[in-house]
Amino acid sequence: MANSTVTDWETAEFWARSRTEMTSAYALPPAVYADEDFFGSEQVRLFGRAWVGVALAAEVAQPGRLLVRSVGGRSVLLTRSDAGLGGFLNSCRHRGTELAEADCDIANTIRCPYHRWHYSADGQLVAAPFFDEVPREDFDMTDYGLIPIRTEVWGPLVFVSLDADAPPLRIWLGDLPERLAAYDFENWGPASVPGGSRTFDVAANWKLLAENFAEYYHLPWVHPELAKVSRVPDHYRYQGPGMYCGQTTTPVSGEERDDWLTLPPAAGLDDSDAASGRFVALFPNVTLAVLPSHMFLMRLEPLSAGRTLEHCTFLFPPGPMTDAEPSAELRESFEITRRFWIEVNDEDIDICERAQRGISAGGAPPGPLAPRFEEPLNRFHKMTADLMTLPSLAELEIPRGDRPGSVDLFGSEPNPVPPAIERIQASTATGRS
Ligand code: FES
Ligand SMILES: [Fe+2]
Repeated sequence: MANSTVTDWETAEFWARSRTEMTSAYALPPAVYADEDFFGSEQVRLFGRAWVGVALAAEVAQPGRLLVRSVGGRSVLLTRSDAGLGGFLNSCRHRGTELAEADCDIANTIRCPYHRWHYSADGQLVAAPFFDEVPREDFDMTDYGLIPIRTEVWGPLVFVSLDADAPPLRIWLGDLPERLAAYDFENWGPASVPGGSRTFDVAANWKLLAENFAEYYHLPWVHPELAKVSRVPDHYRYQGPGMYCGQTTTPVSGEERDDWLTLPPAAGLDDSDAASGRFVALFPNVTLAVLPSHMFLMRLEPLSAGRTLEHCTFLFPPGPMTDAEPSAELRESFEITRRFWIEVNDEDIDICERAQRGISAGGAPPGPLAPRFEEPLNRFHKMTADLMTLPSLAELEIPRGDRPGSVDLFGSEPNPVPPAIERIQASTATGRS
């Protein structure tokens, strides 16, 4: 690339203009989006160490289910056994063969196709054919279980980290579980009707998709229809401590179009959650768009510098959309919601692919971020820089959050109906002063 060489990103200077305060911050250099060498390094340093969202918890809820996922260039297995959720490298302990090619049901046994070593779903080696005929003194089956990886669940998602030094998932997520607690995502599930999930093959770097989700600067021009239900002046930051970028639309509007308000809302939401859309880009690869009645969840799977799979799923609170045959009226409401989201998502894909083309083939040097709208990108860029440069994630500093109602909220007024967690913080702060 012009302006950078292959190893530039290992230096502090490469990231310096994104590590500043918001009012002097710049976008990231073209190489981070377009250079395959950078991508290779990112697979190891970023996706090979972060907590990466790899599946819906619902996909591996039943004992005997096995999922195959790719993380940071490694293939991993997720299993459900009586011992719970398990995560392992997809490689036999005999001579390394890939154990499974695709998601499947295994009952309780993972069989290597090469010489038929058997593993239980919790990763123990249970059979090694013919080793008893000519025994080896140094061979103990208990030494050859599958190699475990760190696996955790939050809300609707399974996460894995391939790095022993990454902080625990609860630290990584920061205040997000508490912030979103009232939605009770553990009990949300996919639709009981077809059309609830879809994968898009996008000709853009995964970070462009995540960044695009994290800013609403583009809203009036790229999404004129979305801007009617999620009005620009009704956006506020929604960021506590944690490895995420967030914004909220409060309130979601229904005067001009009501596409986000046609389905029945979750029970038990307070006045803030019930009125709002929460938009969280969970670093690195998951975005959650949470409305009172549904969630549009996106999981980004990078394939190369310029290509990403976008796995999209609708999730619903427990009720007629998840556990019964929905009425014709409800199906129609879902179809309105679904169509609207697909249109918005198509608009985002088009603009991100165009951004990728300009960055790859034009390669203009990074420009200044807009303080009014792009602080979440600055936060995202700093997290990216940390993962790419820190020798150990034991040194990772989790980003701090906004102070409720503070001047950190560049250009936005304080939210008139703030989320419960911010109201509690604000009253605690007032009580102290
Ligand atoms: S490589 Fe798996 S049994 Fe030989
Ligand atoms: Fe968008």
